[in-house]
Amino acid sequence: MSDATTTTAGSTVDYSGLIPNNIDLNSDSRVRKALETWHPGYIDWWKQMGPDGFQSNPVYLRTAIGVDPDGWAKFGYVRMPEYKWGILLAPQVEGRTIPFGAHRGEPAWQEVPGECRALLRRLVVIQGDTEPASVEQQRHLGRTAPSLYDMRNLFQVNVEEGRHLWAMVYLLQKYFGRDGREEAEELLRRRSGDADSPRMLGAFNEATPDWLSFFMFTTFTDRDGKMQLEALAQSGFDPLSRTCRFMLTEEAHHMFVGVTGVGRVVEATCKAMRAGGIDDPTDIERVRALGVIDLPTIQKKVNLHFSLTLDLFGNEISTNAANAFNTSLKGRFREDKLTDDHLLTGATYPVLRLLDGVIVKQDVPALNALNMRLRDDFITDAAGGVQRWNRIIDAAEVPFRLCLPHVAFHRRIGEFASVHADPDGRLLDAAAWQKYRDEYLPSAADGVFIESLMRPVHEPGAFAPWIVPPKTGIDGKPGDFEYVKLHD
Ligand SMILES: [Fe+2]
Ligand SMILES: [Fe+2]
Repeated sequence: MSDATTTTAGSTVDYSGLIPNNIDLNSDSRVRKALETWHPGYIDWWKQMGPDGFQSNPVYLRTAIGVDPDGWAKFGYVRMPEYKWGILLAPQVEGRTIPFGAHRGEPAWQEVPGECRALLRRLVVIQGDTEPASVEQQRHLGRTAPSLYDMRNLFQVNVEEGRHLWAMVYLLQKYFGRDGREEAEELLRRRSGDADSPRMLGAFNEATPDWLSFFMFTTFTDRDGKMQLEALAQSGFDPLSRTCRFMLTEEAHHMFVGVTGVGRVVEATCKAMRAGGIDDPTDIERVRALGVIDLPTIQKKVNLHFSLTLDLFGNEISTNAANAFNTSLKGRFREDKLTDDHLLTGATYPVLRLLDGVIVKQDVPALNALNMRLRDDFITDAAGGVQRWNRIIDAAEVPFRLCLPHVAFHRRIGEFASVHADPDGRLLDAAAWQKYRDEYLPSAADGVFIESLMRPVHEPGAFAPWIVPPKTGIDGKPGDFEYVKLHD
């Protein structure tokens, strides 16, 4: 696919076979057969570990019909097991060259270079493992959806994470031979939270017990996904770059669901407080008596999901990250927009470290600090969401501000895994951490309270009292649109 004609043809999706695709799968019988062999296991996995219930209900979902930035999605009612999961790559960019690392300036690779095969496979497997994991984590939420609108958004996110698994499995099957096939099977075998066979990364083995957690997860953890995809979209391995570029268009909706979801919860709380004449946002009992989630508890959920997500960026100082960059496999966030040498020769980057029990900023070789840099870019990106929530609080004239906790808070990976810190980054001894933990992170009692609000609302246009309706519907639909047909 190197000439303009085939690139244009590749912008529409072929739905004639079992596996929708824009890569002319019909002419690649080896990969087509491999994927068709993998398909039944995927469907079994979806039925077993995908959304609990609602599998036979028509859901108003978008399906990709092309890969052009505008008009790639078609909306319609679909029963989830019949969703058209497929292989969609962004169009090949004519003459694309590798933007960074030792191979900078060379034509992008269409095949895997032998010397970085193992590292590349690992990057694809790690990304692939997160996709089904989040579906597993969210599988019980449909039963307590606060509206049909929200239920539909949950299922949209779920089917697209399923498609992201397909995206990575395609790369494994096409470019990694037998090892790739085995890895593709393993992706269906591991289970989020399983004691014997967990998912690969910590945050993807945590529970998503309620809808506030779902919105936090899609705000923060899906945003980690965005950052990883942005870095992989820079890859010298062109098929990975193209795959990730299309995945990013889907990912944007997941973060929209998260940021607007939390915003709607915040707004319901502020409105109820105003109507109930409560001025003090920390008067938790009175706020909760109104049937909404108090702002301090929302802050605790921010603290939890933000800190779990930071762990996904790995160690602050990492030779693996340096290798992935040097070998031109994984770049920086928007590498092609940066204006340095793209090799990082002699460059340094400031990293927060724990030295002699004190948190200090230290300049380290930039190549070793790439995880840190991506994490900093993530924090900047995530801060935009928090700002939106604070604007809602300000507009209601409630004296409260949500904020992101310090990077040393509640960490299990990296520099701060060995210490306790409060959300402002002050180090605490173990006794103080135990004493204050429930002020920083959701307590068992907070969980019980939130759980008590999680009652399903199935009337079209109706919303649970702890969340306000969205400003606009999906695909321009009116407020009382039946996004999921429960009685069909
Ligand atoms: Fe994803
Ligand atoms: Fe996502």
